[in-house]
Amino acid sequence: MERFIIKGGHPLVGRVKVCGAKNAALKLMAASILSDDPVILKNVPKISDVLIMADVLRALGLEAGFLPSNDFMIKPTTSLCPEAPFELVNRMRASIIVLGPLLAKLGRAQVALPGGCNIGLRKIDYHLRALEELGAEINVEGGFIKAKADGLVGKEIDFEFPSVGATENILMAAVMAKGKTVIKNAAKEPEIVDLISFLNGLGAKIEGAGGSILTVEGVSGLGGNIEHRIIPDRIEAGTFMVAAAMTGGDVIMEDVPVQSMEIVIEKLKEAGASVEQVEGGLKIGQSHPPFRPLHISTLPYPGFPTDMQAQMMTLLTLAQGSSVITENVFEDRFILVPELVRMGADISIHGPHALIKGVPNLSGVPVRATDLRGGAALVLAALAANGTTEVMDISHIDRGYEEFEGKLKSLGAEITRSSERESITL
Ligand code: EPZ
Repeated sequence: MERFIIKGGHPLVGRVKVCGAKNAALKLMAASILSDDPVILKNVPKISDVLIMADVLRALGLEAGFLPSNDFMIKPTTSLCPEAPFELVNRMRASIIVLGPLLAKLGRAQVALPGGCNIGLRKIDYHLRALEELGAEINVEGGFIKAKADGLVGKEIDFEFPSVGATENILMAAVMAKGKTVIKNAAKEPEIVDLISFLNGLGAKIEGAGGSILTVEGVSGLGGNIEHRIIPDRIEAGTFMVAAAMTGGDVIMEDVPVQSMEIVIEKLKEAGASVEQVEGGLKIGQSHPPFRPLHISTLPYPGFPTDMQAQMMTLLTLAQGSSVITENVFEDRFILVPELVRMGADISIHGPHALIKGVPNLSGVPVRATDLRGGAALVLAALAANGTTEVMDISHIDRGYEEFEGKLKSLGAEITRSSERESITL
């Protein structure tokens, strides 16, 4: 178990480049199962979730891995295996996204039932119901989802909630289904637009990208040796913007997907951070606590992203006055609050609402990362805190941030990674 040791108080100054989006890369890797030809993905982040997804693809019989050029190559196989192993799905619940492509390509799939995680139940009923609408026969038994379909048939699918994963799974199942599929109340996240662009590059016929109604005309097969560059990670970008603001820094970020971050930029400015577009990037500077208090409600895209909620909460602990954050997407996404309170934050939870009363400063104490974005938020708190903070269980953070401490160190942060002290058994 590794931990970060962070000495707060250093303004972040310099330039940092945003990596490829985790939540696009994982899906495009899964979508590559559909291709009859090799695929090259560029700008894939070197994070542990990508390494797990690569293991899943290899377990299914594909060749998958980083080339010396840092591009990611996926080669199809003539002996595709229908089963995604439990131990891999259990390590990364996003592996459920191979269900749709396996059903489309092979007509059958067996994927371990993904557990919930620290931020919520993470149900998959929308996924399974929609696949059944397309003609799949699905049984859940012994902790596994067993699905089969001798030919999926296009249908009109109406989601009760614009679920990102369910939209992606159905898209990938529908691209080779017979006839036309219409997905209503589809999720509109930029990562889904990137998936559609990738699938259409392989010969799929999907219309409506970025909107809530997607139309898919089934085709007989997908292929063509394509290269696709993954879009930049708007959540990594937002995380570094908050870090720059909280430390009173002056940071220029390159490859920021500004057009998909409007509401995050707007909220940062509302809180008093200065954000401006400059030659080659986005500059966050002359910002410093105390910030102005805010009201934030997380919503599906283009609303305020739930994946930026913990980071903004951390910034608002240093506001002058009281803020309210309402979490509408995941039921347990305030899980980091007790750790922030240990650092001196004044936060109370009232159902889906968090009331954050600003304090003059945070103090460095040992804290434990609770989940991916909560863990990153604790690092942001530590960068701004007085004294030294130990953030434990940082494997959560390694899932979604490439070279996190390296990038922060290059901006002047005092942060080191070390293996956690063995627990003292008395
Ligand atoms: C994706 O999760 C992202 N993960 C999440 O990012 C992100 O927070 C989320 O979308 C929302 O933007 C990946 O892309 C790998 P959902 P996903 O299906 O697909 C409920 C991160 O930090 N729901 O839109 O699981 C569900 O319980 C991660 O990078 C059902 O009830 O999100 C949740 O409350 C965290 N039944 C809500 O919908 C279903 O069948 C949103 O889930 C599916 C979802």
